Amino acid sequence: MEPVVAVHADWVSEALGIELSQPSSHTLVRRLYRALRTWIQSGRLASGSRLPPSRRLASDLGVGRNTVLEAIDQLVAEGFLETRPGAGTFVADLPFGRVESVFEEEPREAPDPFPEASLSSRGERLLKFCAPSGGHRGAFAPGVPALDRFPRELWQRLLKRHQRDAPEAWLDYRTQGGVTALREVLCDYLRLSRSVRCRPEQVLVVQGAQQGFELIARMLGDAGDVVWMEEPGYGGAQACFDASGLEMVPVPVDGEGMDIERVPAGHAAPRLIYVTPSHQYPSGVTMGLSRRLALLEAAEARGAWVVEDDYDSEFRYGQRPIAALQGLTESARVIYVGTLSKVLYPGLRLGYLVLPDALVEPFRRANARLHREGQYAVQAALAEFIAAGHFSRHVRRMRDCYRKRQALLRRALTPAVAQGLVLSEGQAGMHLVAWLDSLETERALVARGAALGISLSPLSGYCLTPPGRPGLVLGYAGAPDGEILQAGRWLAQEWLSLSEAGAASPPR
Ligand SMILES: Cc1ncc(COP(=O)(O)O)c(C=O)c1O
Repeated sequence: MEPVVAVHADWVSEALGIELSQPSSHTLVRRLYRALRTWIQSGRLASGSRLPPSRRLASDLGVGRNTVLEAIDQLVAEGFLETRPGAGTFVADLPFGRVESVFEEEPREAPDPFPEASLSSRGERLLKFCAPSGGHRGAFAPGVPALDRFPRELWQRLLKRHQRDAPEAWLDYRTQGGVTALREVLCDYLRLSRSVRCRPEQVLVVQGAQQGFELIARMLGDAGDVVWMEEPGYGGAQACFDASGLEMVPVPVDGEGMDIERVPAGHAAPRLIYVTPSHQYPSGVTMGLSRRLALLEAAEARGAWVVEDDYDSEFRYGQRPIAALQGLTESARVIYVGTLSKVLYPGLRLGYLVLPDALVEPFRRANARLHREGQYAVQAALAEFIAAGHFSRHVRRMRDCYRKRQALLRRALTPAVAQGLVLSEGQAGMHLVAWLDSLETERALVARGAALGISLSPLSGYCLTPPGRPGLVLGYAGAPDGEILQAGRWLAQEWLSLSEAGAASPPR
């Protein structure tokens, strides 16, 4: 508590300064007294806040110390403030409600917990892609890694050292595209592990994939330009492209990923094509080679940029890694997007773009202007984390952990699978999809889960075209084994009870 209380002292001084700068016919003592009393009564000055020492307050405000002391003494006498010998003057412990009744102020109306704001139409549209704040945690939360397994102590040590040794240049505005050491080590990793063609100059470090999508949309798409989107697909990318005014055209995904033979008719040629070819989000399918080549050819022929989102390719269990689409072509039309959110943790807010040469300079400049670069010490710590082998070790551990958790979830769902529940295939990633026969079943399961505090993600919510394909996206990476098992058993039971009441397994 102590530092917070101490910080309050500075703010009180500043706020009183503003108050006294207003024109008034009252004496300085009265104005100081009134301001402090009103703030205490309204709760703006919380119980326990320490006032600056009177000498310092007088000097900050440019008034005599006696003026300050007079106002304070009055508030002490009335019980609003109390002096603690040797510690200073503090706001007394008078809870808001009690203060009102003691001093007979007009009771304040409780603030509306959901005030209406008038948003732009873009803002209103954007909210359709945004879950209410509060988050989605525990069993089934998609995309959340095992945060409790992250080697925090080691990471803290690295951070501390790099923060301490940071050159002064890292405190400045910069437009380098990120710390050189990180761009170099990311390049080594991407070339070897993901078969990406890249040089460090092509890497632009951003604050997560999301910022990368936003930059791509703003730099390459004009309002009304078409972007082909996987259907079902990733809501984060949908939100970015929609907010940038692009026209999203949903392209169906089947067992081999986005099927460009089924692009809906009647739209202009795409400017962007967004894909998750290594592990389609959320269906989990891998785009086959012929589809990949056809996609690259289509992009080339139409002058479109392919946005390859390679968000969780590190997590393939027992299956050979799939090379990135970007590495398949000499063509310069693929922008590779990577993130550290899945491998390390989302709060890190670090991701990167591998840009075709022609985009490097414009993207660097625009990023530095729109978002500003920064967090260089964190980037340097990450470079060391990767170069020293901690990254690979962590990936190996997490691969093992997620493989087990996926197996646990499959095992827990076995009774339902035996009766026809269809799960997505593949030994990869951090979630499974349970395909359902109808939106009614989807809605019923989501509602039953919500009643127990189990948050289920309906697959229809990942679709741009209503009503969307029914199913559930079941994250398993971020919750402990026991919780996954228990939640999986619960889901199997619920599905079976609905299925007995008439629901059936869906056509695949
Ligand atoms: C498909 C997909 N792409 C990218 C990301 C990562 O986004 P970010 O780096 O902004 O955390 C996620 C995270 O949920 C995702 O599911």
